[in-house]
Amino acid sequence: MRVYLDNAATTQLDPEVFEAMKPYMLEFYGNPSSTHAHGRATRSALEKARKQVADLLHASPGEIFFTSGGTEADNTAIKCSVETLGLKHAVTSHLEHHAVLHTLEDLAQRNIIQLDYVQTDERGNVDLNHLEHLLSVREKSLVSLMHGNNEIGNLNDLEQIGEICEAHNAVFHSDTVQTLAHYAHDLSKLKVHCMIGSAHKFHGPKGVGLMYVRKGHAISPFIHGGSQERNMRGGTENLYGIIGMAKALEIAYSGMEEHQAHIMSLKKAMIDGLKEKIPGVAFNGESENLDKSLYTVLSVSLPPSEDTDMLLFNLDLNQISASGGSACNSGSNLGSHVLRALDTDPERGAIRFSFSKFNTPDEVSFVVDKLAEMYASVKV
Ligand SMILES: Cc1ncc(COP(=O)(O)O)c(C=O)c1O
Repeated sequence: MRVYLDNAATTQLDPEVFEAMKPYMLEFYGNPSSTHAHGRATRSALEKARKQVADLLHASPGEIFFTSGGTEADNTAIKCSVETLGLKHAVTSHLEHHAVLHTLEDLAQRNIIQLDYVQTDERGNVDLNHLEHLLSVREKSLVSLMHGNNEIGNLNDLEQIGEICEAHNAVFHSDTVQTLAHYAHDLSKLKVHCMIGSAHKFHGPKGVGLMYVRKGHAISPFIHGGSQERNMRGGTENLYGIIGMAKALEIAYSGMEEHQAHIMSLKKAMIDGLKEKIPGVAFNGESENLDKSLYTVLSVSLPPSEDTDMLLFNLDLNQISASGGSACNSGSNLGSHVLRALDTDPERGAIRFSFSKFNTPDEVSFVVDKLAEMYASVKV
């Protein structure tokens, strides 16, 4: 058995999604910008996909822009909000994905914005009082806080953060790559200006994503070129990718409750199994708390051992694909910036297991047993 528990990194393409994409690879190849029949056919499919995505998210088609993925969507939302509105201040947290952190740090290094980091506690919870304070001493800020953390799974309360942003006249961007298609977002209610998604995190194809930009939050393009995406993103559209993403979103929404229940039960089984079989096991951030973390992510903290550095390698040898990163910052291995921000013990091993609808209880038992075997000789 070979087990894939790295679904926060990327997911397996759903065969149904592939079937939906195929005609747009072979049959419908016209450029959606062309005015002839071939172009009109693909233009119509493109706009149908946009409407489908918008309907599922309770947004309007004019608020949805297709991108090459989450990273481009984060860059666009952040850089173009700052540039178009002339923002001079931004707030984020040390736990964000590098697509957000490095983008904001670039703006700060070039003295375009002053960047503040909201305080987080040792479990990675954002201090909303501190956020209010940071916003109250500035005129107009950009706030970039993610919904679900890709490493430790912590969930931020987007509704509450949206309220705070509105009260302080701040622009709110949220990296929702780990939650779009996993949770039912209602964009007609959320007070978020920009939100993003990436198809390969929900059984869609790689290299395609989306950006929601709330009506009235007019921003300039990030990629200049042709008039595609209503002048917001030049470049011929990744048509079969977009068709695949819309299909993947449709499948995700139609089975959301069932998938949630299934995946949650896998996560719970892994927590219980590891606690039973590995003395001294713990969980990073709010990962163990099923109400406060992504049901798809479990960040396991393992007792110090001589083999900590070899953990992922040994799992791989044991037919298990997962990802990791300790808090270690020695040598060339910079480790995980998220675990470092939580001040976790660098001597402890850290593995992120992330689940999908395709995983099974047998796979979870297999992984628990293998990990227990690896830790059988470790004294705590
Ligand atoms: C939270 C988060 N943001 C952004 C990204 C980047 O998305 P993409 O791979 O589509 O560029 C990822 C992917 O790892 C992610 O987990």
